[in-house]
Amino acid sequence: MDIRTDRSNEKRRPSAADASLAQFVADVQYYLTQTPRQLPSRYFYDELGSALFEAICRLPWYRITRSEHALLAAHGDAILRHLDPLSAIVELGSGSGEKLKTILEAGGRRAGGLDVHLVDLSASALELSSRVLAPLDGVRASAHRLSYEEGLREATRAISGSGRTLVLFLGSNIGNFDPPAADAFMRGLRGTLAGGDLLLVGADLVKPERELLLAYDDPLGVTAAFNRNLLVRINRELAADFAVERFAHRAVWNAAESRVEMHLVARSAQQVHVGAAQLDLRFDEGEAIWTESSYKYEPEQIARMIEATGFRTTSQWLDPADRFALTLAEAV
Ligand code: AVJ
Repeated sequence: MDIRTDRSNEKRRPSAADASLAQFVADVQYYLTQTPRQLPSRYFYDELGSALFEAICRLPWYRITRSEHALLAAHGDAILRHLDPLSAIVELGSGSGEKLKTILEAGGRRAGGLDVHLVDLSASALELSSRVLAPLDGVRASAHRLSYEEGLREATRAISGSGRTLVLFLGSNIGNFDPPAADAFMRGLRGTLAGGDLLLVGADLVKPERELLLAYDDPLGVTAAFNRNLLVRINRELAADFAVERFAHRAVWNAAESRVEMHLVARSAQQVHVGAAQLDLRFDEGEAIWTESSYKYEPEQIARMIEATGFRTTSQWLDPADRFALTLAEAV
């Protein structure tokens, strides 16, 4: 495989790194001063955060990755068969690249001579996924270090074939969007795609609370480290002085909203300075920063959500034991 890192975006904006740092500063300024205090979950994935997430995927209590992998291995061939003729696959939030590799392997020879576009904000995830896909024959991978929306736009501009495009949105990444944001995101996606293009969504399902809490507050403390690393990152990149050990990881199941929330809770009253954002914050004991929502769904709800934005559901595959769903939909 040849790996073409798309640098067109950097050429237009020579300081892409500065621009994303400025965005980080602006987001921290805005979200940390909201009530309740918040931080966007997309900032988890620096190099260490991406490695911790890969570790989470291997935890016995976090079953999303394994469950989805089994579904993709079992049905990847059927999914690719739906698509004939296929020009390109775009994966939004490509992470390790293993999911895409599984589909392509399940599809066997049919996948030969395929353009694959990896969209992720994390440089280390793009390096890893490019490496994971490298052994596959006939796969030309391009990496786009951009947001989902910008990356998809850039990828579709680069796709030249006359066949269909398959967009992958896997790993229950959709669960980070609240319902209005998910709706807006799917509409944007539909607007970028042509009729006949396909979308494959992997989404985690509602399950018993104790299982959800073990998945998001694991006995090894890996998820706690993943959550608290956000403060380590802010300290390093934004010249802040969070006393990381004075913040505790907390995961809660919010049944009314059907989401697991992660928070960082101040163990004692304290002050924090964020140099790059000119912020001085006072935390009360027990005051929390809300760092992530992971929405959980019922299968019909996923289909309805997708269909509300100009898609028709063509198939849904369920893992009844681990409660996970893959939904394939066609742009109409
Ligand atoms: C990558 C967003 C799907 O919400 O389950 C894992 C991230 N957070 N453990 C999820 C995550 C805590 C994950 N997603």
